[in-house]
Amino acid sequence: MSTTYTLDTSTSRANPTPTPLKRLTVPGIQRRKFEGRTDEPLVMLTAYTARQAQLLDPHCDMLLVGDSLGQVIYGLPSTIPVSLEMMCAHGAAVVRGSYHSVVIVDMPFGSYEASPQQAFESASRILKETGCAAVKLEGGVAMADTISFLARRGIPVMAHIGLTPQAVNALGGYAARGRSQEEYEKILGDGKAIADAGAFSVVLEGVIEPIAIALTETLDIPVIGIGASARCDGQVLVTEDMLGLFERTPRFVKRYADMSGLVSEAVTRYAEEVRGRRFPGVEQVYLPKK
Ligand code: KIV
Repeated sequence: MSTTYTLDTSTSRANPTPTPLKRLTVPGIQRRKFEGRTDEPLVMLTAYTARQAQLLDPHCDMLLVGDSLGQVIYGLPSTIPVSLEMMCAHGAAVVRGSYHSVVIVDMPFGSYEASPQQAFESASRILKETGCAAVKLEGGVAMADTISFLARRGIPVMAHIGLTPQAVNALGGYAARGRSQEEYEKILGDGKAIADAGAFSVVLEGVIEPIAIALTETLDIPVIGIGASARCDGQVLVTEDMLGLFERTPRFVKRYADMSGLVSEAVTRYAEEVRGRRFPGVEQVYLPKK
């Protein structure tokens, strides 16, 4: 990890509350892609809670409060029912739990599509209530005017194109995109449109690899891949997927741990000890003072 951690305890009017570390910034993330190349790929993971943010923060450049929390935290069938209130509550928790990464909060379905003005109201609420640095929204050409409206008003926007989960009803599922020539060209057009509109970065999800390579090579903003290509400027995964908290994960997920196995093993032991009256033991009970 190349990031330099700097103790910053000085105050100023611009920084009235000292924080232990200097947080990375949106322009800093953008500068990591220079002359069309990112020497060290950007590391992004999802985070939904303060404790999770604390654990991930030292290793990441960006933490994404994804609307995938609908499925991962709330057990919802898709991201469609996720509300602005949910995103604000979890976004604020992740900002509280992090000092170093740029925190980006997803705009939930229905909070931005109607008009640029609606998007501005939702995005400004997210920024005010969470303290995050940027918002993410799904869509390419159709969202270009909205991205430009927000960017010109000081709201950094990360776009999300390719497989866009909020459009699951229109797409008919979560299959990889870009296999037909028409879809291939549409996704390339989406990438160009959001970059021209002023998005500072883009998540490219679930596309055939040649699209990911073409967009990474042609866009001058960082392309963050998920189910895309190792040649993207950075990668993102849903943390619970890569930690192995679910039995089944999509093909593009690499499981770096077996958390569901660990949880199951620990809870099995706990249940056995409770039922056998071996927990709590002498170390865990309070005795009267002698
Ligand atoms: O909501 C989310 O977690 C996301 C990532 C999968 C990129 O958008």
